[in-house]
Amino acid sequence: MIGSNTEAESLSVELEKYVDKGAEKRRPNLTHFRRMTSTNGTGSKIAVTKNIVAEHEQYTRGTLEEHQLGNDPIQNFSRWLEQAIAEKVREPEAVCVSTATPQGVVSSRMVLLRKVDDKGFVFYTNYDSRKGQEIAQNPHASMCFYWREMERQVRIVGKVEKLTTAESDEYFQTRPLQSRIGAWASPQSQVIDNRDELDHRVEEFSKKFGVENPNVDDHRVPVPPYWGGIRLVPDEVEFWQGRDNRLHDRFTYRRTDGGEWKRDRLAP
Ligand SMILES: Cc1cc2nc3c(=O)[nH]c(=O)nc-3n(C[C@H](O)[C@H](O)[C@H](O)COP(=O)(O)O)c2cc1C
Repeated sequence: MIGSNTEAESLSVELEKYVDKGAEKRRPNLTHFRRMTSTNGTGSKIAVTKNIVAEHEQYTRGTLEEHQLGNDPIQNFSRWLEQAIAEKVREPEAVCVSTATPQGVVSSRMVLLRKVDDKGFVFYTNYDSRKGQEIAQNPHASMCFYWREMERQVRIVGKVEKLTTAESDEYFQTRPLQSRIGAWASPQSQVIDNRDELDHRVEEFSKKFGVENPNVDDHRVPVPPYWGGIRLVPDEVEFWQGRDNRLHDRFTYRRTDGGEWKRDRLAP
């Protein structure tokens, strides 16, 4: 139970083990953990960490100069993505997407970028999910990529739009059968009673679409009406290259009223 004594104590023990036997051994000069045990208002013990990493590595993988950048940020992004793939960055298409309610309450989560073209940055999801409901009421959104192995970050700010059903269906049919069934079975972001409920829904939808063997992918499963692509159309794209002493290189492109891109260097 969250907040119970048992959990607080077991958390402290875990933390202690990690600090003593793991982190300090692996990176003795860099990691300085301090473990404190405190009490909350009800007298329960709670574990608190301070100074998780007192020093951090320097960023030295590269530099970013104005002459390396073209006039079009999407072309530049595509080049960086290709470089990330070539450098074997793990899941370079994984990106944090932030959306917000009309009142400005922001929430973030990871998704997988599935397409980037002149129009923008596309991912797929359940339109009834939390993010789906937020963008239905407030189109403003942001993405943030971090390609750690290259010490690069890209931020995109803009407004989202839904792909057409035909576009979403085209992509949906390229997904493995079990993912297609999963999209029907999962009421994404809604509360469910337990795992069994989910497994049961998977069975139900498999039956509904006549799937006897989930490993034989020979069924056409239609795209659910509440599932599809979302495109973030950028108004702003920022490229960040880590440099030493925190003096990073940053360039941002902002779309002007005339639709042109204006590029500026930003202070780190
Ligand atoms: C690396 C990674 C990639 C993910 N990709 C997707 C994705 O492409 N689409 C999606 O709907 N959820 C994806 N998820 C799950 C989301 O992070 C999230 O849990 C889910 O979409 C529900 O989010 P929401 O409740 O904020 O709408 C991914 C999670 C991770 C960690």
